[in-house]
Amino acid sequence: MLEIKNLHASVEDKDILKGVTLNVKAGEVHAIMGPNGSGKSTLASVITGKEEFEVTQGSITFQGKDISEMDPEERAHQGIFLSFQYPIEIPGVSVTNFIKTAINENRKAKGQEDMPASEMLKMIKEKADLLDIDRKFLSRSLNEGFSGGEKKRNEIFQMAMLEPKLAILDETDSGLDIDALKVVANGVNKLKSADNAVVLITHYQRLLDYIVPDFVHVLMDGRIVKSGTKELAYELEEKGYDWIKEELV
Ligand SMILES: Nc1ncnc2c1ncn2[C@@H]1O[C@H](COP(=O)(O)OP(=O)(O)O)[C@@H](O)[C@H]1O
Ligand SMILES: [Mg+2]
Repeated sequence: MLEIKNLHASVEDKDILKGVTLNVKAGEVHAIMGPNGSGKSTLASVITGKEEFEVTQGSITFQGKDISEMDPEERAHQGIFLSFQYPIEIPGVSVTNFIKTAINENRKAKGQEDMPASEMLKMIKEKADLLDIDRKFLSRSLNEGFSGGEKKRNEIFQMAMLEPKLAILDETDSGLDIDALKVVANGVNKLKSADNAVVLITHYQRLLDYIVPDFVHVLMDGRIVKSGTKELAYELEEKGYDWIKEELV
């Protein structure tokens, strides 16, 4: 589904990614871990197409198409979702109204009509029930006074509604409490299917107590230096990152 080959990327002429190779297939959950500043968020930004990052070498292929030159909207329309896409507060625009607009924008881009209101309502109800989101939350103004857990609830709800093929969740944000971690974990576990894939970026080993990734990768200094299964995450929890550094020299 997602094939990244020898990806190099820079921001303001500073090389951040220095040859990342990653293969994500449908049905898989990949966790990307690594020390602060190793390039995890940069990798997420480059996959979703944030403008300030420049790909200087390598390729990003999504469902057989080279997406490295596409703008972020186009990538989203191809089915890539990035958390923190809409962190802004929008007073007067509710959680549901916002997602309705996003869905219809998506459909418009594909040349489809707006989703009929009844179908939209049904979908909202289904997804909210699936994720244990109450009705009151859905009518709140977007991000206004949201707690960390509520922000996560909103993101996971957006993800559920947009039904992306690939979700990239960057959970390196500080202030993620246990409630917020559980919201994310619950969402990922419930929305995961044989047709979609998740790349979960985190430096919280604790999140992986709730989500079992199929693969764990360690990103250090812009490269994936080690890959393994969930056992690798436990090893990292126990030993930190230094032993990998030592292995490399
Ligand atoms: N917009 C930017 N402008 C300048 N430097 C940046 C920018 N974004 C990231 N960096 C730098 O790139 C490196 C990797 O950052 P980042 O990808 O956020 O790491 P991580 O998410 O693993 O903590 C850091 O040295 C950071 O300072
Ligand atoms: Mg980060």
